[in-house]
Amino acid sequence: MKKNILLFIFLLLSFASIAEDGYRLWLRYDKIKNSALLQQYRNLLPAVQFSGSSQTIKLAKTELINGLQGLLGQKISCLTSHINKGIIAGTPRTSPFVNSLFSTAEMVTIGNEGFIIRHKKSGDKNVIVIAANSDVGVLYGVFHFLRLLQTSQNIQQLSVTAAPKIQYRVLNHWDNLNRYVERGYAGISIWNWHTLPDYVDQRYIDYARANASLGINGVSLTNVNANARVLTKPYLEKVAALANLFRPYGIKVFLTARFSAPIEIDKLATADPLNDSVRQWWKDKANEIYALIPDFGGFLVKANSEGQPGPQNYQRTHADGANMLADAVAPHNGIVMWRAFVYGEKSDDRFKQAFEEFKPLDGKFRSNVMVQAKNGPLDFQPREPFSPLFGAMNHTPLMMEFQLTQEYLGQGTHLVYEAPMFREVLKADTYAKGKGSTVAKVVDGSLFNYSLNGIAGVSNIGNERNWTGHLFGQANWYAFGRMAWDYDMSAEQIADEWIRQTFGNAPSVIASIKKIMLSSYEVMVNYMTPLGLHHIMGNGHHYGPAPWSNNLPRQDWNPVYFHKADSFGIGFDRTATGTNALSEYAPEVRKLYEDVKSCDEKYLLWFHHVGWKHKLKSGRTLWEELCYRYYKGVSDMKDLQKTWNDLERFVDKERFTHVKMLLAIQVKEAIWWRNSCLLYFQTFSRMPIAGYEQPDQTLDYYKSLSFPYAPGN
Ligand code: GCU
Repeated sequence: MKKNILLFIFLLLSFASIAEDGYRLWLRYDKIKNSALLQQYRNLLPAVQFSGSSQTIKLAKTELINGLQGLLGQKISCLTSHINKGIIAGTPRTSPFVNSLFSTAEMVTIGNEGFIIRHKKSGDKNVIVIAANSDVGVLYGVFHFLRLLQTSQNIQQLSVTAAPKIQYRVLNHWDNLNRYVERGYAGISIWNWHTLPDYVDQRYIDYARANASLGINGVSLTNVNANARVLTKPYLEKVAALANLFRPYGIKVFLTARFSAPIEIDKLATADPLNDSVRQWWKDKANEIYALIPDFGGFLVKANSEGQPGPQNYQRTHADGANMLADAVAPHNGIVMWRAFVYGEKSDDRFKQAFEEFKPLDGKFRSNVMVQAKNGPLDFQPREPFSPLFGAMNHTPLMMEFQLTQEYLGQGTHLVYEAPMFREVLKADTYAKGKGSTVAKVVDGSLFNYSLNGIAGVSNIGNERNWTGHLFGQANWYAFGRMAWDYDMSAEQIADEWIRQTFGNAPSVIASIKKIMLSSYEVMVNYMTPLGLHHIMGNGHHYGPAPWSNNLPRQDWNPVYFHKADSFGIGFDRTATGTNALSEYAPEVRKLYEDVKSCDEKYLLWFHHVGWKHKLKSGRTLWEELCYRYYKGVSDMKDLQKTWNDLERFVDKERFTHVKMLLAIQVKEAIWWRNSCLLYFQTFSRMPIAGYEQPDQTLDYYKSLSFPYAPGN
């Protein structure tokens, strides 16, 4: 009998040690290796005490006990009465001790979701206190505290005060009801509509834990290219099951609303937002939803864009459409996130269309509507200047939309850490109210005193065992959540945390992985779209380079429209001599970009049509610089690949090999991007690719490639 138990334990342990499949994300609670630190933690943390009895508090308690037991390798007791040493967690309402420690003023600073973590020694007590105004705040504090241990922080004299800078921190899943994920590269949807509502997949819980560990407090479950069926009763019951699971983790559920749903579900003759029956239909629908899900977040809407129906079908405005839905959810405290990703029919420049449609509507939306704009004016290109809407909507809360799934950033195979890009956008200055009017201040609502504020990330999550397909995709989910909470965190800080939690605290491992992550964004921009090139990927599936592509009916869907290469040069003139898209920015921003001589070269070809022989700051001509950047992108990528491969002895075999194989694909694809773009642009510049190893394939070869297997095909 004893032998059997030992065998069982052995098998369990050996299974645990080989299952390095990435499933645990950053929530890994393996025993701490640094013995001095382990001792410090063990001494201080023998027990925990929680006050409150909500589901959230129970989850927080379980998480903390599991985390501590794993990290410290010792049994943690959970005390209900006197505790001298350990962790005390609660709110002033539930815990007299917490109440006695912090002043009302202090508690006010952390708001409803923030927390304080403090080391307190007084009398016979030597404790860490996790205090918050709400149970969810306690849960957030618990996750943060575990993060401190996972990342080897000293917890003596600990004093952390944290509160989210942005109110709505939402993941947007582009998941269809048939589980196909639009622009998803990590398997199919994690929402199994077939087995919901009765079957509770452990994944739903681990997903909620991961989000709560970052403070993500909303998830929109369905694709913006919406299916009305999700608003029917059988689906709403399934949605309610997810909402019930997510609620204790502080996560609200949102759904995408198909504008024509009244017609599709109940055969109304119209979906005109000013029609009384239509308005009533949405009110009834909202009542039905809230009866099932009392804290339902509200709707996310893509309307009159890429074939989606919307108010313009009835000669109404986006504001008319948004306001109708806003009125339906307002009695239940719901909100509407109305997307600004639209196309204008008459516009001369794709860049200008969101602005042209939405700027005139500023101030015309109900107070429970946010307009959700992509970070750039186009569509999640490797590098975009910030969308001019940020800074132009003084009276309408503008919500930020980033894309975590790497539709244009190498899809499922490229390691690209997006935090530097998020930072670049959030720190950009709109000058809307003078210097310092950053995009972040628009998004957090402070610049224009918005009544609501929010940030969304288009999810990169699927049902692959490691959630994101590429293990390093997890870092983008992580970075989005951390930055949504606190956009002042640097990309480096966030990478440091994630690496320590994911790969451990060995300094040389941290240094190498950090180098890879922090340079990956710029390296990718170089081998894909240097100097402000944009939208030159394959049409439709968006996989790989195809700057020659010109087969779609709308001009502004084709790469040739965007790069405008000709015998003179390349790039899109958006100055006053061109489409004047620059006029959508404040004069100070315009000034930064309008002169070809002083324009930040990151954005050069976004705003100028530049001669091939034009001299750049480096002293190289534009053509030479283009060659230089593309070649540099590839050689830097090879360098990152080597940095990873040198980690073989320090990373477990499974994760090491997974990343190694993907990096090999990435290098191959970087060469593909470089060669095909340069060979194609060379047909215009008629200049040699001088001083570099020559492409080993012809342009015709690259043009002949087809990708029947690319997701989205
Ligand atoms: C891109 C993407 C689409 C998506 C759209 C959107 O165009 O390729 O798949 O539906 O953005 O954001 O709505």
